Amino acid sequence: MPKVVILPGDGIGPEVTAAAVEVLREVAPDVNFEEHAIGGGAYDQYGDPLPQITRDALADADAVLLGTVGGAQNSPWNLLPRHLRPESGLLALRKLLGCYANLRPVRVQPGLEHLSPLKPELARGVDILIVRELLGGVYFDQDRKIEGDTAYNTMRYTTAEVERVAKVAFWAAEQRRGRVTSVDKANVLEVSELWRRDVTALRDRDYRNIHLNHEYVDSVAMLIVSDPSRYDVIVTENLFGDILSDLAAVIPGSLGLMPSASLGDGAGLFEPIHGSAPDIAGKGIANPAAAIMSAGMLLRHGLKRSDAANQIDRAVALALREHPTPDLGGKADTRTFTRAVLNAMGSP
Ligand code: NAI
Ligand code: MG
Repeated sequence: MPKVVILPGDGIGPEVTAAAVEVLREVAPDVNFEEHAIGGGAYDQYGDPLPQITRDALADADAVLLGTVGGAQNSPWNLLPRHLRPESGLLALRKLLGCYANLRPVRVQPGLEHLSPLKPELARGVDILIVRELLGGVYFDQDRKIEGDTAYNTMRYTTAEVERVAKVAFWAAEQRRGRVTSVDKANVLEVSELWRRDVTALRDRDYRNIHLNHEYVDSVAMLIVSDPSRYDVIVTENLFGDILSDLAAVIPGSLGLMPSASLGDGAGLFEPIHGSAPDIAGKGIANPAAAIMSAGMLLRHGLKRSDAANQIDRAVALALREHPTPDLGGKADTRTFTRAVLNAMGSP
């Protein structure tokens, strides 16, 4: 029986993860759920935003579903030393799980084109998966220094690091439209030259059914908002991926529509990209779509159950059209939306 650890966290985290778990139970009744504390609530209860009891539970987990952490601006949590703040629990969690591939689907749901800041004819049908390398590159390399009026960081990748994240991208593309765009800056960076060479070699060796092309990051920054439909899966290194994924996140028009997955060799981490939304927490009006879609990614990528994941995606798309939440200009509360998803899956 697969074990899924649920970490609801703070603010709207418990509200949206409860909705996601309800949906998960429906499509995966054999899964064993275990709930634990993280973030500000965990600090209040255990004096630690990622307490040992939670760490222990993660050791034999098959996947982790996370809500959100953090309090309002005037929360006493914000006066704590950095390593005790709610957000540090999240950083410690990501590090502990060693997830090297961050997946962010960017999809404009049918009927919700009007929410996008893009023109409807550009927004229509957008369905991109960004795969960002998460543990390497310039953010982590220890060869770094600031001294007087000079500073440097180092962008370094190895073939093994490139291949493991590219494999995730190719695997995902096999389940989608079979196209991967690898993004680099090979006209100026040696790292990109290696990246391009290794991604190409991997495709030629193991993924000949995938259509691979290479584009420069500056060009992609322009095309992802001016012609987003050209992309299926995008794979790129850490820094480029950070910037491109935040840029692309504006396309659907609400944070409540953005799920994510972080995959490594062990348990994957699945979470909405939005924060704890203190302004609406406790009111029962949070949009649980991002959390429910994250649960869908958990089924697809964490437990390799694509059929159940597809079932969730279809049901969410229907519910969004018929019962939009306030952030989408609708009236449905969390409960109503969740029930609409359950109904669309053919359950009571
Ligand atoms: P936020 O994402 O929590 O909220 C930004 C705006 O979007 C708010 O108006 C909020 O009501 C709205 N919103 C977000 N998710 C929504 C949803 N599912 N349904 C409806 N409306 C939604 O970002 P903010 O306000 O900058 O941060 C609040 C707290 O969350 C802070 O403590 C921050 O550190 C934390 N945070 C946590 C993250 C995480 O757990 N991964 C990520 C980002 C922020
Ligand atoms: Mg970012």
